[in-house]
Amino acid sequence: MRVLGINAVFHDPAAALVVDGRIVAAAEEERFSRRKHGKAPVAFSTWELPEQAARWCLEHASLAPADLDAVAYSYEPGLAPDPGGDLAAGEWEGLRTLYARRARLFLRTALPGLDPACVRHVAHHVAHAASAYLAAPFERAAVLVLDGRGERASHLAGHAVGGGLKVLASQRLPHSLGLVYEEATAHLGFRRSSDEYKVMALASYGRPRFLPALREAIRATGDGGFTVAPIAWQSLAPPVRDEARDERHADLAASVQARLQEVLLDLARWLHGRTGERALAMAGGVALNCVANSFLAAQGPFERVWVQPAAGDAGTALGAALHVAQRLGDPITPMQTVALGRGWSDDALRAWLAGAAVPCERPDDLADAVAEILAGNGVVGWFQGRSEYGPRALGHRSLLANAGDPDNVHRLNAIKGRESFRPVAPMVLQARAAEVFDGPLPSPYMLFTQRVRPAWRARIPAVVHVDGTARAQTVDPAAEPLVARLLAAVERRTGLPVVVNTSFNTAGRPMVDDPRDALECYGAAPITALAMGPFLVRRPR
Ligand SMILES: [Fe+2]
Repeated sequence: MRVLGINAVFHDPAAALVVDGRIVAAAEEERFSRRKHGKAPVAFSTWELPEQAARWCLEHASLAPADLDAVAYSYEPGLAPDPGGDLAAGEWEGLRTLYARRARLFLRTALPGLDPACVRHVAHHVAHAASAYLAAPFERAAVLVLDGRGERASHLAGHAVGGGLKVLASQRLPHSLGLVYEEATAHLGFRRSSDEYKVMALASYGRPRFLPALREAIRATGDGGFTVAPIAWQSLAPPVRDEARDERHADLAASVQARLQEVLLDLARWLHGRTGERALAMAGGVALNCVANSFLAAQGPFERVWVQPAAGDAGTALGAALHVAQRLGDPITPMQTVALGRGWSDDALRAWLAGAAVPCERPDDLADAVAEILAGNGVVGWFQGRSEYGPRALGHRSLLANAGDPDNVHRLNAIKGRESFRPVAPMVLQARAAEVFDGPLPSPYMLFTQRVRPAWRARIPAVVHVDGTARAQTVDPAAEPLVARLLAAVERRTGLPVVVNTSFNTAGRPMVDDPRDALECYGAAPITALAMGPFLVRRPR
């Protein structure tokens, strides 16, 4: 069966293609449109589809819209609150529902030739859940979706066995752990529905001294759900204006993070008690909180925790497609990689470089040549293979630097125009990871944090966060042979099995995706060299 998944309702529009139960392609619209998060998270934009991503998915598989057996749309308007005739009520909730109901017609326009009868709505949290339990390498698992909101709920706890899902609990809105974290994000002067990871980073600088107030407000209810009472944020710390943050703001971030983790632990314990499973599969925007994920892995009752790399709403495109493919009878092959986006042949890359009149070389051993630059403390734009699905750069669209120089965190933050408190992350060979890092390993998708072992802290200062942790990506040579060779070559020169890896983009812009984006970013930022496929572009001294 050929199933195209579509996420369009809230934000992070994306498309994914599943053919005969295998994930063939998946991409976020922002990588095409160059608009971060794809669209504004308002009801008015619900009709906007991931048109370019969807067309590309089909093109990649040489399919036409008419060849699709199903289109899976990750929202079920039938479950949404009844607008009751007033489209404007509740921040235009009725408009969102109306647009979602008409998705068939919008899809027919966007994908000419599509049979609108093949469009199926999939409940938002069922799609998130499927993106976890069907993509994870488990036959059976407990499933936790932790989100901002879906149709009427913000969370789902379930039990997945043999491809089917039994829903055990689902917390109704307005109670939402995702939305409370979003509120904190906005109060701390960051962009809601976008910059939650900055709150997580800021939390390491503070003490959770507002925890008692948050324990009052946010409570697990003992039946798999929770309640969130309105929080007087102002009474804890003043709202942040003009990026002026002080200790109170760091303490507030630390408190919100700590309370989130406590509640997640309660939810996980309840779910473990109900399912008795050893493995947990997670998705939903809150599951991108790698500090909370590590806390759950360490303190929680599950032996294994697997998180969908595109845990945010973009991942519901994949989840909806997997869910429908499974329902149509296809056996599902678990997710093997996030490298599901666009890629270019060597010839195509050569043509791009020639077209831009950028002099380049083709080293005999690219890994070795790039390692030499990194050893000399250069910053390298690394554009290799297919782009990543989800928010993390994992060695396909990355900026790489030397982990041994403590200034490199500031240098990369300056290149990218990011706040100075933001950490950058290490990549490390899987076989060497446990020597350097202590925490959930392997971690191929950077969804957990680890403690940097004391003997290594002074050796790789660029990647050690203020609290002594790092968010490592472990590299399996079988899955990522070129990155593995690069890491080995860097270690031969520097003695460090670790390289700094951050996303290849500048502040506020989506990650680079196509060769033009890479060349533009290289041209606009002080990057020492650009490794694009087998070609190496060196900035003239
Ligand atoms: Fe969601």
